[in-house]
Amino acid sequence: MGRIDSNRDGLDRPSKRMPEPQLIFDRSHPGRIGCNVPVCDTPEVDLEAVLGELRTELHLPEIGELDLLRHFTNLSHINYGIETGFYPLGSCTMKYNPKINERTAALPGFAQIHPMQPVETIPGALELLYGVQDMLCEITGFSEITLQPLAGAHGEMTCLMLIKAYHESRGEGVQRSVVLVPDSAHGTNPASAARCGYDVVSVGTTPEGNTDLVDLASKLNSGVAALMLTNPSTLGLFEPNIEQICGMVHAVGGQVFCDGANMNAMVGTTRPGDHGFDCMHLNLHKTFSTPHGGGGPGCGAIGLQHHLEPFLPVPVLRRADRSESIIADYNRPLSIGRVSAYYGQFLMEVRAYTYLRAFGKQHMADISRHAVLNANYVRARLKDVLPPAHDRPCMHECILTAEKYKKENGIRALDISKRLIDYGFHPPTNYFPLIVPECLMIEPTETEAKETLDEFCDALIAICKEAVENPDLLHNAPQTQIVGRLDETLAVKNLDVRWWPAKVTVGVGV
Ligand SMILES: Cc1ncc(COP(=O)(O)O)c(C=O)c1O
Repeated sequence: MGRIDSNRDGLDRPSKRMPEPQLIFDRSHPGRIGCNVPVCDTPEVDLEAVLGELRTELHLPEIGELDLLRHFTNLSHINYGIETGFYPLGSCTMKYNPKINERTAALPGFAQIHPMQPVETIPGALELLYGVQDMLCEITGFSEITLQPLAGAHGEMTCLMLIKAYHESRGEGVQRSVVLVPDSAHGTNPASAARCGYDVVSVGTTPEGNTDLVDLASKLNSGVAALMLTNPSTLGLFEPNIEQICGMVHAVGGQVFCDGANMNAMVGTTRPGDHGFDCMHLNLHKTFSTPHGGGGPGCGAIGLQHHLEPFLPVPVLRRADRSESIIADYNRPLSIGRVSAYYGQFLMEVRAYTYLRAFGKQHMADISRHAVLNANYVRARLKDVLPPAHDRPCMHECILTAEKYKKENGIRALDISKRLIDYGFHPPTNYFPLIVPECLMIEPTETEAKETLDEFCDALIAICKEAVENPDLLHNAPQTQIVGRLDETLAVKNLDVRWWPAKVTVGVGV
C-alpha cells in the first residue's frame, strides 16, 4: 500500500516527487490528428452562409491517438480513490462501491429508461423504487420513505420543510421559529435550518461527548420547531440519552430530526425510528454504497413517522387501491411539492437496491459491526500517539487529537495529514468536529482488511515519531506529489481550472 522506502535515514520516508505532468496543449503539434476522417462524399455546403458567422480558431490540441491515450491514462494514475488506496475520510463513509452495482445500473432496461416515459410503461422501475423504500423503512424503523432528495443536505432540508409544514398545519408555523443544533453538528445542519428560514441556536456537548441535557433544557420552549441530532454523533459516539432527549423536545411540541449520515454504524443493528425520532435523512452514497459524486448525484433519502406523511414531496409512490400495481401519486393537497425532477436519482436507487439485496436482512448487521470493529481497532492501535478525544469505545469512526504535537513540536493535524500523503494514504478529515482541538477524524469503513489498517496505523505511528525528531519533514509535506503544500486559501479564493492559450484573453474569443 504506502509508497514507503525504509532504507533512507533509518526513517520510513517516501520516494521522490512525481514529475509534473504536461497539459494536453503542451503536447500539441500543428497538423497532428488522432483520427482518420473519411473523405467527404456529399456536396460541400457553405457553413457560414447556412449558420452565420463561425469561430475560426477553436484552440483545440492537435495530437495523435497514442499520445492522447497515454496523456489521459497517465493523468488518471495521479488520481487517488478508494480503488487505489485506503480512504479514511471521516464523516464521508468512503466505502467500496461493489462492481455488481455498476453491472445492474448499466442494464439497458434500467439505463435506457427516459425520465419522461409514461409511468404505465415503467412498472419494473417503480417496483424497484418501491422495493428500496420498503427495505429502508424496515432498516430505519420509519413508516414512510421518499427517495427524492439528491444529497444528504438536501434530505436535511426536506425534513425541515416537512416539519415546517406540520407546524403550519397546526397553526404554530410563526410561533416556532428556532431550530436547535448541537455544537458538534455537520455544517450542513445549521445551513439547512437557516435555508428553511429558521433561527439556529446551538446546544452544547458534555466533556464525555454527549448532548448537554442541562443546556438543552434551558433552550427548550414553545418557540422551538425542531432539534437536529446526529446519531452516532460526529464525535463517533452513540448518544446514550436519545430517548430522553426526544421526550424532552416532544414535551414542548418540537420535532426531532436525526442526521443519519452515520447510519453505517447502526445499519441492521438498531433503528432510529424506534428511538423516538420524527424523521431522518440517509446518505445512500455513504451507507448503501452508491458512488459519491462530487456534490451529486447522490441520494439523501428521508424517513418519517406517520404524522408527517401528508406533507411528503410529490410524487408519492404507493400501491393503487384494489390493485397490486404501483402508482405515482400527485394528488396530495398538503404536499410540500417537488424537491427534485422526476423520481430522484433512479440509477443510484438501482445500485442501492442491488447492495441491499446482496446483503439481505440476515447479513445487514455485518456492515455496521465490521465498521465499528475497524474504527475501534484503529483507535486502540493509535491511542498512545494520537489520543482519542473521548476515552470510550467509538462507533464507526474515531476522533483523535494531535494537540500535544502542536503544543510541544509546532506540528498541527494538517501537517500530519499532509505527511500521510507521502506515505501513500488519503488523509483523514481534519478540524471537524470543530469542538475537538487539532482533530483527526478517521473512518476506516467495514470493507478494509486488518493488514490495511495496520499499514495505515504504522504510517501514523512513524509520522508521530517524525513529528518529534524531524518536524520539518511534516511542515514540508507532501513531497511526493506533483505539487507540494498549497496555499489552500488562495486555491479556494482564486480558482483557476481553465486553460487558455497565451494570446486569448479570458471572456473574449473562444
Ligand atoms: C454528519 C453529516 N451530515 C450531513 C452531511 C451532508 O451530506 P451530503 O454531503 O450528502 O450533503 C454529511 C456529509 O458528509 C455528514 O457527514
